[in-house]
Amino acid sequence: MQQTDPTNPCADASPNRLVCGDCLDELRKLPGASCALIYLDPPFNTNLRRVGRATSQRVAYSDSFGKPGDYVVYLRPRVLELRRVLTTHGSLFFHCDWRMSPHVRLLLDDVFCVDAVEGEGVFVNEIIWHYGLGAARAGRRLLTKHDVVFWYANSTHYSFHLMRDEPTQAMLGKYRHVDGQGNRYMNSYGRRYLLKGGKPLDDVWDIPSIAPTSSERTGYPTQKPLALLRRIVQLASDEGDLVLDPFCGSGTTLVAAQQLGRRWIGIDVNPQAVKVAARRLANKTGDA
Ligand SMILES: C[S@@+](CC[C@H](N)C(=O)[O-])C[C@H]1O[C@@H](n2cnc3c(N)ncnc32)[C@H](O)[C@@H]1O
Repeated sequence: MQQTDPTNPCADASPNRLVCGDCLDELRKLPGASCALIYLDPPFNTNLRRVGRATSQRVAYSDSFGKPGDYVVYLRPRVLELRRVLTTHGSLFFHCDWRMSPHVRLLLDDVFCVDAVEGEGVFVNEIIWHYGLGAARAGRRLLTKHDVVFWYANSTHYSFHLMRDEPTQAMLGKYRHVDGQGNRYMNSYGRRYLLKGGKPLDDVWDIPSIAPTSSERTGYPTQKPLALLRRIVQLASDEGDLVLDPFCGSGTTLVAAQQLGRRWIGIDVNPQAVKVAARRLANKTGDA
């Protein structure tokens, strides 16, 4: 699918579009300050060819960029464009792993906080996504079971919706009364305290990776779980906002945005990815 209105797709009330192309070229076509939330999950520079199978077809993309410096040279112009298209209240989430995370962090600090042309951006959080599943062969080092997601914003006025964990059994025991509306509360020194939920979300997220038999699995390599993307979209954007994923792969971000009432733009250089994402977006459940 190609863009239909190259003039200003973002002003459109429903600009949802999936574009096949190098994100550098495609980002240059987008107007400045148009996207409220950007999530990117580019290849991690693992020096592997990523291969999968989607609807009985082999799907693959290359994940080799050379030395860390070469990877940063590849990323820098794309990150600069991403900062340009981010709104004043916007946030950018960059997903990587232990291999490139130190280099990515320095690049993002540079683009958002040091070389910032239009005002100072801010580093918000380093999120650790801890996933449970996957091969667990013991070796002479610890199993690596986490990725890193860096959160940066264009200013301190970024959209933020506090999220909470489920209340623990201990909290439920403490707030043991229930009022007429079904709210839990406790009484202390003559005052009533409502239970607002569990503890505020911290920066270590335990979300299982997609099980081999899950209906969510498309077969596209390195597909991320919908639960992870739904959390990011809910945390840092508002209904109606425009969400951009410039390395969209199987379209997980776009499905999350669609489910949560946000508008979206997805870009991928691999026609196979665009095909998988389009099929998924056509299915209301976001399943493969
Ligand atoms: C890690 S995968 C994204 C997976 C995605 N988050 C998901 O849940 O399916 C990285 C994607 O970046 C794409 N890609 C690589 N270079 C690109 C470029 N220059 N522009 C746009 N997409 C690119 C690859 O084709 C691949 O689909």
